[in-house]
Amino acid sequence: MDVQILIVDYGSQYTLVIGRTLRELGVRSVILPPKKVDGWLKKNTPKAIILSGSNWSVHNEGAPGLPKSVDITGKKYSILGICYGMQLLAYKLGGRVERPLTHREYGPALVKLNTKHPLFNGVKEKTEVWASHGDTVTSLPKGFFSIGVSAGIAAMSDKNNRVLGIQFHPEVVDTKEGKKILQNFITLSNCKKDWNPANLIQQIQKEVLDTINKTGKKSRVVLGVSGGVDSTTLAGILAPILKERLICVAIDTGGLRKDELKELKENTKSARVKKLVIIPATVEFIKNIGTTIDGEKKRAKFRAVYKRIFEEQIKKYNAKFIAQGTLATDIIESGKIGKSAMIKTHHNVGLSWKVEDLHPLRNLFKYEVRELARVLKLPKAVYERNPFPGPGLYLRVVGTPVSKENIELVREADKTVNDILKKHNLIKNISQLIVALLGINSVGVKGDERVYGYSLAIRAVQTSDFMTVKGYYFPEEVVNEITNALTKHKNIVRVFFDFTPKPPATTEFE
Ligand code: XMP
Repeated sequence: MDVQILIVDYGSQYTLVIGRTLRELGVRSVILPPKKVDGWLKKNTPKAIILSGSNWSVHNEGAPGLPKSVDITGKKYSILGICYGMQLLAYKLGGRVERPLTHREYGPALVKLNTKHPLFNGVKEKTEVWASHGDTVTSLPKGFFSIGVSAGIAAMSDKNNRVLGIQFHPEVVDTKEGKKILQNFITLSNCKKDWNPANLIQQIQKEVLDTINKTGKKSRVVLGVSGGVDSTTLAGILAPILKERLICVAIDTGGLRKDELKELKENTKSARVKKLVIIPATVEFIKNIGTTIDGEKKRAKFRAVYKRIFEEQIKKYNAKFIAQGTLATDIIESGKIGKSAMIKTHHNVGLSWKVEDLHPLRNLFKYEVRELARVLKLPKAVYERNPFPGPGLYLRVVGTPVSKENIELVREADKTVNDILKKHNLIKNISQLIVALLGINSVGVKGDERVYGYSLAIRAVQTSDFMTVKGYYFPEEVVNEITNALTKHKNIVRVFFDFTPKPPATTEFE
């Protein structure tokens, strides 16, 4: 079946989340930048088009406009503008878009919706939404009516319910009824369910095989594995089709958590990988990263060593391709989609290799990959595993150079906190735990003696997609138990608990 929904990406941080939410609702979609839309529409007939948000204002010079062939009369397909998308629709159809000082909304906002409109069918009349905009539609185009208000017009519709706009972001989980709204839009545009994980696995296998077989039936692929959900799932997808042609390479960077290498071996085994190579490289990583404090510089150095080792293995095994378990989120936050801002360099995004690189999971989000892992019958330990960044514990020694000793300190502390959380059965409540060493000296007292030492920071977060996260509050007894356990170390004088959401913080400290 043809793709039913086209999402035009104007560069909002959340564009891929729209695609993910639609998929969660059972419908596939394609995301394209405006300049690719005309070409695509020549060959495809969608049932709906969604115009994403953006950090542009329609009045700015150079602001991305509507691709020529997009029909906004509602005759060919339904159309939904989100945030900038709504402003663009209103502006093009003769309404007014302004930047009134009083109407700006960033973050949670309350809206009152017209629940008689089919877009808000079954939705609460007053509900909390996620808004992030400076401009607002202040006057509607002819033939349109308002179907929701917050500080200004929050939603609009034409009289046939075919051309719709919402000022807030239904795709962000903080919009309480967002999923229902998108479901209503799917219903309004007559889209049918067409997404399922088993099909997706076959699709990925076919895509990869088609690509690599072009270079010969014996071409080898090197796959970077970390033991985590993404790379293990990708190994599980590729192993049955590539067999001995798949060389899995894992690097022992020295930044792994306790017992992680052992788990990595078990996980790749359960993914039926025939060849796993482990490269010990702790000394090289510490030597290169050790003098650096700046997070981005550390990431750059990590990438350089990581790349060097992989190039060596590609050469050694005479591979024609390198595959990685890069996800949509990694790509968005490395600033590789539309005009999204660069938040941080992910260790495996945007590297230029001597051979072709494959990112078969690039359109997926973590929870979808977990779903694929389940379908592949990988062990629970794989699909329930919390994410862990490629540069590992190197990112968790903050504000002081990384040394063998302080990385060991965080590794032990991470294990201690994990064990306490396991004991209290709290692991299931959190999406990721971060234990970091903060290299700021402060004064403490131990056994009547003054100690001038470092602190540890504990951060547990809850999220479904890591685009936004919420801090998780531990019960008081757990806070005390963690603090007592960690301050037993002679150089640790304080333990901080960090509940800052993302935004404004990120999940990791750097
Ligand atoms: P942030 O800190 O950007 O993290 O909110 C979002 C998620 O991504 C993980 N992360 C990484 N994963 N390589 C990875 O494989 C990286 O360079 C990297 N940086 C962050 C982070 O742990 C969290 O789960």
